[in-house]
Amino acid sequence: LDNGVARTPPMGWNSWNTFGCNINETLIRQMADAIVSSGMRDLGYQYVVVDDCWFNPNRDSAGNLQGDPSRFPSGMKSLGDYLHARGLKFGIYQGPLDKTCAQYFNSYPGATGSLGHEAQDARQFAAWGVDYLKYDWCSPSGSISEQVTTFAKMRDALAATGRPIVYSINPNSIHAKTGPQRNWGDVANLWRTTEDITNAWDTGQSNGYPMGIQNIVNVTVPLASYAAPGRFNDPDMLEVGRGGMNDTEMRSHFALWAMLASPLIAGNDIRSQNAATATILKNQQLIAINQDTLGLQATQVSNDGTRRVLAKRLANGDVAVALFNQGGSTTTISTTAAAAGKSGSSFTLRDAWTNTTSTTTGAISATVPAHGTVVYRVSGGGTTTPPTGSTFVSAASGRC
Ligand code: DGJ
Repeated sequence: LDNGVARTPPMGWNSWNTFGCNINETLIRQMADAIVSSGMRDLGYQYVVVDDCWFNPNRDSAGNLQGDPSRFPSGMKSLGDYLHARGLKFGIYQGPLDKTCAQYFNSYPGATGSLGHEAQDARQFAAWGVDYLKYDWCSPSGSISEQVTTFAKMRDALAATGRPIVYSINPNSIHAKTGPQRNWGDVANLWRTTEDITNAWDTGQSNGYPMGIQNIVNVTVPLASYAAPGRFNDPDMLEVGRGGMNDTEMRSHFALWAMLASPLIAGNDIRSQNAATATILKNQQLIAINQDTLGLQATQVSNDGTRRVLAKRLANGDVAVALFNQGGSTTTISTTAAAAGKSGSSFTLRDAWTNTTSTTTGAISATVPAHGTVVYRVSGGGTTTPPTGSTFVSAASGRC
């Protein structure tokens, strides 16, 4: 969507993965402070997104949305002011139908979705200083054309406010998996590609609830051509630091999300994150690859079912190459600079995890642990060309 924002994938934090409906203004403020004190804000984690359950189950007498008075007693404008005063941006959640997912699913009271209130709610968000709207379709029904019409209403309502607001949609919650069937870049800045992520490597789903890291990668890799500045596939929020995976898997998760030009929205409790988690979330090589101004998503160079190679062209002519071991034991993964889209015969490889460099005349190879991902930034050589031999697996083929 060409609305001037999300020219690179948004970075930030969202309340849902760790806290679900158990949110309040003190928690959000503490998290904002932790994002600043951990150094994450200065690395790009800007958007603090308050997910489902922030609202009063009743609109006011004029039909306006209101924050829940017991958990957000200072009001939503005040929360936005708090974030802005710390150099952060304010994200909020809403549903396009009559109910949010928590209302539809989790017995959260009320039916305060934006259906029929689009312009009013967009104005309200703008008045509160909202910079990012997550708009979450929560119904098992709705054709794609209904979804397009409904999501476009809020797109237009946000535009009419004159405030630059990142528009992040989820066509996929408990819904027939529409994401992969459509390039939503005409409607939104970000669109979810799958059902909800969970804190696990592989749930065996192709696109059902809940999705593990491997499962989401399988669906999202073939959608590379949709990504561009202002429009990105959204493989969902990060599960780094949430305990369901080992450190190798968490590193892989982060590296792959960086390569996929995914929004990097942390979902852990930043206040208490350990050193391993902080090191992953603050990896500057991977953040730079993710935030590259070309805004391209990595395309697939090869995939034999165990060894998967992805390549992402970068603005300065470098190419980031990911060697991803999908198997259960250590293996060597190899490709070449030419296969990754580089011409020439002399290259420097910078390892994104160790930040060390080596040189090569073309071979790119690493020994990669089970579920690990090694990422090299390849520089040198001649003109970058798009990776060749992109043999996209279909989303349906799932994990090999
Ligand atoms: C479904 C979404 O996929 C989640 O990220 C979260 O926003 C919940 N809905 C909230 O109910």
